[in-house]
Amino acid sequence: MSKRFDAVVVGGGVIGCAVAYELQKAGVKVVLLERGTIGQESSSAAAGMLAPNAEADQDDEFLRLCLKGRALFPRYLEELEERTSQRVEWHQSGLLRVPGSEEEASVLARRYQWQKEAGIRIQWISPEEIRELEPHLKPTTRHALYLPDEANLDNAQLTRVLALAARSRGAEIREHEEVRAPILDQRRVLGVTSTVGAYYSGTTIYAAGAWTTRICPTEETSIPVIPVRGQMLALRAEHPLISRIIYSRDGYLVPRSNGEILVGATVEWAGFDKRNTAGALERLLQAALNLAPELESATFTRAWAGLRPGTPDTLPILGPDPFWQGLIHATGHYRNGILLSGITAKLTAELVVQGRTSFPLEAFSPDRFHVSAKTQSTTR
Ligand code: FAD
Ligand code: GLY
Repeated sequence: MSKRFDAVVVGGGVIGCAVAYELQKAGVKVVLLERGTIGQESSSAAAGMLAPNAEADQDDEFLRLCLKGRALFPRYLEELEERTSQRVEWHQSGLLRVPGSEEEASVLARRYQWQKEAGIRIQWISPEEIRELEPHLKPTTRHALYLPDEANLDNAQLTRVLALAARSRGAEIREHEEVRAPILDQRRVLGVTSTVGAYYSGTTIYAAGAWTTRICPTEETSIPVIPVRGQMLALRAEHPLISRIIYSRDGYLVPRSNGEILVGATVEWAGFDKRNTAGALERLLQAALNLAPELESATFTRAWAGLRPGTPDTLPILGPDPFWQGLIHATGHYRNGILLSGITAKLTAELVVQGRTSFPLEAFSPDRFHVSAKTQSTTR
């Protein structure tokens, strides 16, 4: 079997589905190939936070990309609902960033200063204000950063709705079909072969998450995407204990509208191992109880793990491959792939359709890993 499309998207996580939707919306005929089912990996394992400020250490291109990514969400979800009649649960809940020690409180106080100067809505709130916002947090919580614009959504639902929206625009979404290798001609990628057949296209987009390196054309020109395990668990309390995201160095709590409180997450370099381990779950539970002691009597409902697509510098990998014409990367989103899904898709579609993007992608370019290899290839 051999078929021709304008674009082949590899990977049916939140990034691949968002890219397929945006391309098809721009009139590009897309096939998306997913080796299992839509959203089966990191995109369903995530906590669904749209929280660029909670982790930002500096005002840089990455923070700007994340803020742009968050800003488009409310309208983006409305657009998806108009198209699919499916609502993605979304809350601009706000987030409390709680320090674990006086030392960390000084670090957060500095963060407060620069984020405020950068124009971010942020408050350094008193114990009384903490109590007013979240009465069930540990009574001794003395400091917190309050970020009212941080939000969260149901990430598994978002991924499914994106796939549905892409399909309704005319994209072909093929599950249970694994991409084996790119089809190469000289320095060009002409498409991919899969477990079912061959797909030819002008543009091939790799959005295979933590597995992207495996399908790069050659080892020496591959991009480095590294699996970073995140273990999570969920609790259900008798009555709602928190209404905002509570974020600390040791763990975070994300309230969901079905009554569950998600507790996350570990950051582990354990290869492609998605097990839950006893030690990690114990530490997550301890972190949760430290933040909100009344969770002690909550019901444990489930635990899971996902593999974040990490990169050596923790930045995503976005844009054309430096060696292989016709190949574009949309991967390496590490801790923020849900947040960055919409903006990644819009910029990738701009690249495919117009050959340029409305936001600079230099800081995220795949070139950055290949300085020496690129020199070799141009002198060869
Ligand atoms: P994935 O969702 O992993 O999708 C890649 C897909 O490619 C998979 O479905 C896979 O089956 C498929 N695939 C791989 N190889 C092939 C092949 N050869 N052929 C066909 N298909 C293939 N981000 C946030 O923004 N907010 C959060 O709160 C958040 N919390 C997180 C918590 C945890 C515990 C974890 C693990 C991650 C979290 N993230 C969060 C990160 C986020 O989940 C990821 O950045 C995002 O899901 C990456 O999406 P993706 O589509 O690139 O990858
Ligand atoms: N962004 C939260 C996580 O990756 O755990």
